[in-house]
Amino acid sequence: MGWPTDYLEEARASIVGAAGEQELERARVAYLGRKSRLTEALRNAKELSVEERAELNRTKAALEELVESARRELRKRELDRSLAEERVDVTLPGDRVPRGHYHLLTQIRREVEDVFVGLGYRVVDGDEVEDAWHLFDALNMGPAHVTRSPLHTLYLNGDVILRTETSPSQIRVMEAQPPPVYIVSLGRCYRRDTPDATHSPIFHQVEGLAVDRGITLADLKGTLRYLARALFGEEREVRFQTDFFPFTEPSLGVSISCFLCGGGGCSVCKQSGWIELGGSGVVDPNVLENVGYDPEEVSGFAFGIGLERIAMLRHGVPDLRMFWENDLRFLRQF
Ligand code: DAH
Repeated sequence: MGWPTDYLEEARASIVGAAGEQELERARVAYLGRKSRLTEALRNAKELSVEERAELNRTKAALEELVESARRELRKRELDRSLAEERVDVTLPGDRVPRGHYHLLTQIRREVEDVFVGLGYRVVDGDEVEDAWHLFDALNMGPAHVTRSPLHTLYLNGDVILRTETSPSQIRVMEAQPPPVYIVSLGRCYRRDTPDATHSPIFHQVEGLAVDRGITLADLKGTLRYLARALFGEEREVRFQTDFFPFTEPSLGVSISCFLCGGGGCSVCKQSGWIELGGSGVVDPNVLENVGYDPEEVSGFAFGIGLERIAMLRHGVPDLRMFWENDLRFLRQF
């Protein structure tokens, strides 16, 4: 055997062996292209015998046929592969898109709001940045009151202060409208505290205020008992103890019977059987006068409770910092 039979065999091996269309094209160019030996020979065909010329043409036609069939074969293989690989099984269950939800503190906030909206209270926004009148003076805190100290309170400058409690909302509401007043105001508060398990420089409170004719301590007790049971269950007992706040007289601390031991004493309630929720009291007549209300005409009660405290008690959260770390393993539990 010799030319062009060898050539045909060699070309056939390259063409049939091509693993992809690019490789096939390279083989075609090598054996059928303008610079291939075959094309070269056909260009000089005049010098050949009729027989030789006919054989070269047959070789060329055979190679062209081979290239075409190899190309068809490669395309078919590629199609089969993509059909198999990209097949969509419409009966498979879809990918679950994880659903977000409100932060635990937002859930508690809304729940507290719902309780009071159900009692006919209005939910009002307070200002996180306050002035000394609303934050201290109008709330009956004297010029030497300890929370005025920049050691406790974050002053942005002079009379621009991050509120340390939601109580100034009381003043703003009463300044803006005549009695009766039934409001709650929930939001962030700021104190110069170093974060630890029970302290945070940012935390949330719910402030409540009711001012009307003939409001008494009994209304305060009934309302907070109702709140405590709505949040912690019907079987909770609520206890009031004397306390002191400049803006209430008398002032009462509010505690609930321990949800863990039921009052017998355990480590959660520090063996007392009671867990403190927040502060409350009968609005001091000075506060009513500061906003132009007549303490002979109307009286009121007020309270302030930490939202983190409610959440911690409800869910046994041991560390206040967990609310701010945004660790999804924590947040997803609620
Ligand atoms: N503002 C108080 C605090 O941050 C809580 C409080 C106590 C609010 C008694 C009140 C109240 O409205 O009457 O500790």
